[in-house]
Formats: sequence, structure tokens, C-alpha cells
Amino acid sequence: ELHRIPHPPRRLPLLGDVLGADRHRPLQDSMRFARELGPVFRRRAFGKEFVFVWGSRFVADLADESRFAKHVGLGVANLRPLAGDGLFTAYNHEPNWQLAHDVLAPGFGREAMEGYHGMMLAVTGRLTDHWDRQLAAGRTVDVPGDMTRLTLETIARTGFGHDFGSFERERPHPFVTAMVGTLSYAQQLNSVPGPLAPLLLRAAARRNAADMAYLNRTVDGLVAARRRSGGGEGDLLDRMLATAHPETGERLSAENVRKQVITFLVAGHETTSGALSFALYHLARHPEIAARARAEVDRVWGDTERPAYDRIAKLRYVRRVLDESLRLWPTAPAFAREARQDTVLAGEHPMRRGAWAMVLTPMLHREPEVWGEDAERFDPDRFTAPAVRARPPHVFKPFGTGARACIGRQFALHEATLVLGLLLRRYDLSADPGYRLTVAERLTLMPEGLRLRLERRPRRP
Ligand code: HEM
Repeated sequence: ELHRIPHPPRRLPLLGDVLGADRHRPLQDSMRFARELGPVFRRRAFGKEFVFVWGSRFVADLADESRFAKHVGLGVANLRPLAGDGLFTAYNHEPNWQLAHDVLAPGFGREAMEGYHGMMLAVTGRLTDHWDRQLAAGRTVDVPGDMTRLTLETIARTGFGHDFGSFERERPHPFVTAMVGTLSYAQQLNSVPGPLAPLLLRAAARRNAADMAYLNRTVDGLVAARRRSGGGEGDLLDRMLATAHPETGERLSAENVRKQVITFLVAGHETTSGALSFALYHLARHPEIAARARAEVDRVWGDTERPAYDRIAKLRYVRRVLDESLRLWPTAPAFAREARQDTVLAGEHPMRRGAWAMVLTPMLHREPEVWGEDAERFDPDRFTAPAVRARPPHVFKPFGTGARACIGRQFALHEATLVLGLLLRRYDLSADPGYRLTVAERLTLMPEGLRLRLERRPRRP
């Protein structure tokens, strides 16, 4: 059934299409193949075939939950040793998925979000204090590094009542270093034949074991502290430890809590950090767009130091800047879908039950038939309400799809909109004119080496 799907011409035994591939940038490598081979293609590696899909017609069909479901494959599967049956890496059939989903979903409802709002503002205040100090010292700011400090502190504080002290450190917190290590290792595992991995990646595997041990120790310490203190402010950790399932009365096991805490600490900050970093990159590159966004912030927020919860979603244009950033570089750039039963994809490609395909989101988000010939151009007005209505469904998927879509979507959008609003109001941002965007990959995406020059805006009279 695969034979009708195009593949690259040069095929080598065992190594397949992997040779010549950029091992450190597998996603951008696949984007290159996508442009050559079209909306459905396959790559062969180590005797296995991998099917990639990005044409909107095919992705829309894969989004049909009655016939397809999330597939835990490649990079996500490689995170199983760390995150086990935590929400992100759980197989669909594992009972802990539904249990944890039902117990934790209220932690992302409106009431819970209002509770996080004040903490998000406080963490952003630590970022602007840090940036004011950099500015006073005549230094540019390290965007990915500082956005990671911000989003790690935000999820740690709102989810777990914890403070990593990221802004008080010169270097990234060891939690971040260990996390980046395990994400990079999970990505690397895809670039060598499975049986040879212990040999080829021996040093990396040893480092990875140490990284995982560090992450587990951190999490165990955090949970132990909470058990001793007897309860927080009703945050995610309280829910994990104390909330029984509304219908079955079941609770998460201690082992599963550990997996969920790791999952939320990692999934809850790494992708948002990238999204904010790309948005700042585009704002610095497009002063006219930054000016329009800033005018909106001034208009909607006025001079208030602490915008109220309901003022964040009112920043419609800032939100469009974020959407457009996530269109071009969705920071979790792929997700996989498997057939629930024998079926035919978009009436064209037969798939057996369990067969799966990888959706390349950045290519879906650039399909010329949907986004126009200028799809590479950054233009937030692609996300005005009429423009969105004019497009077919399932063409914009930065948060995945269906039952296994991102549980933290509202959290991420609230946090990122709030932060962009506060930064735009406080600073003029400009990039080094010599900076050329390079996108680093460690399962997630990040604009590598991006630094910005700041100028403090005059306070309004
Ligand atoms: C799932 C993207 C922020 C927690 C996902 C998926 C994507 C995604 C694409 C689906 C993956 C798949 O189908 O295999 C993003 C992006 C974010 C973001 C782009 C930021 C801009 C967050 C935040 C949290 C979070 C802030 C938590 C506070 C999760 C969890 C899942 C998930 C737990 C697994 C859900 C399940 O399977 O039940 N995310 N995410 N994410 N995300 Fe996010």
C-alpha cells in the first residue's frame, strides 16, 4: 500500500534516506523533503518506512477522531522512560490517561486560570526587573534564555508552588539543562538504528541517565515538600495528590504523580518559551507590526500596572501576532496519528489498523492553496475573524488535535499574551541587523542565539 507514496530517490540499504540528512535538524530536513515530494511522502530509515503528511486535505482526514487517534511514536515514544504514562506520553489505552485528564482538566478551567493570573504577572515582573538591569548595564538580552527562565518559573509557581530562582542565576537552572539534555537525546535516538543505539550513543546514554535521575530527584523533592506542608493553594500538584475522580473516586498513584509533575514542568514551559521567543523575533523585525500591537496595549490597558484577568484576551492583535508566530514555527512541530481500524486516508491511501503518519505542522501552515503564495510572509492579519472563517477547518494545528490535543493551550496563550503586552508597553525592541534566524531543534523549536536590544519607552503623561 505504501508503493504509491513518493519517497526520495537515493535509497541505501539499512541507512535508507537518513544519510545526508541533518541529524541535528530533523524537522527542517523533513520540510525540505516535503517541498520536493508533496503533501504525503515517506522516508525510509533502518529498514522502516515513515509516512509524513502535510497537505490540508489529508490532515483534515487524520483529524477525524472516529477513524484516527493520537499515535505515541518517534520523539514522543522516546520520552516514555522519563514521562511514562503521564498525560503527554500515555498510550490511548492506558487507564491513567482518562483518570489524569479528568482530574487535571479543571486545573485549566476559567476559575483556575484567574487564580494563576496574579502569579503570571508577578513572574513577568521578575523578567522586567532582570531586563531593566541588563538595560542599565548596556547589555542586550538573551531571548530564548530569558523566556525559558520566565516560563519555567510560571509553571513551577502556578502548578507546584515552587520557585527555581531562575532569574537569580547566570546560567540556566540545572533542571533546564537536564531537560534539554533528555529532549535532545530523545531526538537523537531517531537518527540511529535502534539496536545500535547503546553502542553509538553510549556517552550520550550515560549523560541521559544522569539527566533523568536529576529530573526525578527534583520532582520527588518537590512532591515530598508538599506532602510535608500538607497542601498548597489548590494548584495542579494539590489536584494530583488529593483530588479523587468525580465519578470513580480513584486517585493518581504516587508513581503516576511523579510522571505528571515531570510532564507538566517540561510540556508546561518549553514550547511556550519558544513561542514567545519567535514572537519577539518577528516583532523586532517588523517595527510597524510592533507599533500596532503596542498601540493596542496602550488603548486596552491604559496605564494600569496590573492589567486584570479579563484584559488579556482583549488584546486581539497581540494574540494574532502569537498565532502568526505559531503558524510559521509551531514550537511542537509535529504530531502523529494512527488508524483505529482499516481505512483509506482521504480516499487515496489505504491504512491498516494501527498504521500511523506524522503530521508536519510547519508545512501544513505554509500550504500555498490555503495560505497563499506569500505563506512565508509574517502577517498577523491572517488571523482576523473573517480571514479565519474563510479558511477550511483543521488548517491551523499548533496545539495538536482531538482528545489528545494540548490541555495547556489556554494557559500558554494567556501567559504569552500577557507577557508580550507588558514587554511591548515597557520597551522598544530591536534585533541585531546581522541576525539571521536559525531554528534549533530538540524535539521543540527555538530561535537560536536571538538577542535583542532594548530601549525603555517613556512613561505616558
Ligand atoms: C499536548 C503544543 C503549551 C501541556 C500538546 C500537543 C501539542 C502541544 C501539539 C499534542 C501532542 C501530540 O498530539 O502528540 C503546545 C504548544 C504550547 C503548549 C505549542 C505553547 C505554545 C502547554 C502548556 C502545558 C501543556 C503551557 C501545561 C501547562 C500539555 C499536555 C499535553 C500537551 C499535558 C498532553 C495532553 C494529552 O495527551 O492529554 N501540546 N503545548 N502544553 N500539552 Fe501542550
